[in-house]
Amino acid sequence: MSLEPETPRSCPVRVAGTGSYLPERVMTNHELEEAVDTSDEWITSRTGIRERRIAKEGEFTSHMASEAARRALDQAGVAAIDIELIIVATITPDTLTPATACYVQQQIGAFKAVAFDVSAACSGFLYAMELARHSVGAGAFRNALIIGAEKLSAFVDWNDRNTCVLFGDGAGAAVLLPSTNGGGRILSSTLGTDGAQAELLNIPGGGSACPALPGAAPARPAVLSMQGREVFKHAVNAMRQAANDAIAAAGLGIADIDLIIPHQANLRIIDAIVERLDFNRENVFINLDKYGNTSAAAVAIALDEAHREGRVKPGDRILLVAFGAGLTWASAVIEW
Ligand code: UT7
Repeated sequence: MSLEPETPRSCPVRVAGTGSYLPERVMTNHELEEAVDTSDEWITSRTGIRERRIAKEGEFTSHMASEAARRALDQAGVAAIDIELIIVATITPDTLTPATACYVQQQIGAFKAVAFDVSAACSGFLYAMELARHSVGAGAFRNALIIGAEKLSAFVDWNDRNTCVLFGDGAGAAVLLPSTNGGGRILSSTLGTDGAQAELLNIPGGGSACPALPGAAPARPAVLSMQGREVFKHAVNAMRQAANDAIAAAGLGIADIDLIIPHQANLRIIDAIVERLDFNRENVFINLDKYGNTSAAAVAIALDEAHREGRVKPGDRILLVAFGAGLTWASAVIEW
């Protein structure tokens, strides 16, 4: 007889709809050449980024999140009022409190939903997916709306060429439902964190450690700071490991994967991972040339674009893998 408490039976969960939103304003590398000591050649060859989207004044993270959410709900055929759980993954919330998910709940009219944020940087959407999968799978909620959304342009030092060329704004969303009659399911997921490396990538100012008090700028700025080369190395190792772990947890091998959707930070990182996984580069979804690094939104936007472009078909197995500040990493294998 087992003395362990009985684990409730969990039902499989599927992605029933995806959506994304990108602000209209396109900022090219050439425009950045006017602002800082950089070049289109440097940015393209070192990162693969050609342009990024920038939210307009008055357009906040919640607005982008809500638009992506509406599109995902529409595709899933679920009414906002029937949504029971909203998780927004973001490091650029509208306000420190309340959570951006609360604004989204109001904006889309999901008045019955429990709503909160997760802060796991670029891995945030996959953290949200894992939380939501277990919540819906265990029957605590009948459905979930998960969103990755960022207005990174508000937290970038536009005079720092080390960071300002890398980031962009946008949002992506997915609706999760129980997978009762086949039709796809999330097969596996892995999450990881290494807080010992927190200093490598952070926004030092604006929090309780370094508050922005009335009438005074915080002693350290509320903008992204990154030791790029170090982060690069960790990103390659952690994402390769996370990818292998999720594939193994799904009981599959790399040859069973039809499409990889990686975090969109740097084309060289993606190439290094794909090479180490011995995977066909043609089956890797890449859109960072258009949007740059949109942190928690990146995998969510890429999943929606891949879906809408017909690169994800029923029965396909898709590997999602991400890495970001924390340090955090995450991966998931979805059978579509
Ligand atoms: O999303 C979360 C995870 N984030 C990431 O995964 C990002 C990881 N890191 C990276 O993608 C890369 O490290 C960067 C794209 C950030 C930088 O590329 P790098 O090849 O690692 O360049 P570096 O930092 O080693 O800098 C090389 C040179 C330096 O000049 P010196 O010291 O060699 O004279 C930099 O000052 O490039 C210089 N540099 C630039 N030059 C022109 C840095 N930024 C720029 C720039 N334009 N924008």
